[in-house]
Amino acid sequence: MERKQIAAGNWKMNTDYNEGRELAKAVVAGLQPSDVLVVLGAPYIHLKNISSIIQDVSNIKLAAQNCHQEESGAYTGEISAAMLKSCGVDFVILGHSERREYFGEKDELIARKIDIVLRHGMQPIYCCGERLEVREAGKHEELVGEQVKAALFHLSKEQMGQVVVAYEPVWAIGTGRTASPEQAQEMHRHIRSLLQKKFGKDVANATSILYGGSVKPDNARELFGQPDVDGGLVGGASLKARDFLEIAGSF
Ligand code: PGA
Repeated sequence: MERKQIAAGNWKMNTDYNEGRELAKAVVAGLQPSDVLVVLGAPYIHLKNISSIIQDVSNIKLAAQNCHQEESGAYTGEISAAMLKSCGVDFVILGHSERREYFGEKDELIARKIDIVLRHGMQPIYCCGERLEVREAGKHEELVGEQVKAALFHLSKEQMGQVVVAYEPVWAIGTGRTASPEQAQEMHRHIRSLLQKKFGKDVANATSILYGGSVKPDNARELFGQPDVDGGLVGGASLKARDFLEIAGSF
């Protein structure tokens, strides 16, 4: 199976209702036909509306940025996988470093979220990545390897076939400091080789591994040109339709 090239936007906690609608419409209007899958990772309030904005465009999909790990119940303020599915969500971003850092999410919890998202027929985008001090200590491959094992190695081959991985070095997120194409490639190859050992060559080769961390129009092409970099998870630059479209056209 060929793996997909993906340009995924992560809007984070940005855009009010009107701004989100306009941004989604601008992406739809400007998108050139291609095989690249474009994913809009919008705040919850936008999901249902964006799902109708993109319904006739086969290469744009919808992502949520989080999901609760239980099916339903007394969890005031939380959103369940079934709710997301009913709004037309295709992907759910899980394990983002901001969720790990500000909301204390650990891989054991993220693994449960991955399970429930899969159970409801959506695809997790599992984020992993090291902090700066870990890279400086030369332990980045080890750390990311532990994250990948803890969150994904309990899955079956079929389930893993539904997962997208995003390598996002924490020191590159929102900092304007991007991993070099070589650093990205090295880590992506490492992640793919771990997946290969556990799930076999077919699954590993079919898994899209995205790079995230200050992806911009002027660095996307070089990053996406690496053999194991299958696209990007884009934060800041996904808030401007023009920049995001340029990134989506950088494969
Ligand atoms: P950034 O964010 O592109 O603004 O660095 C990436 C992310 O956090 O997914």
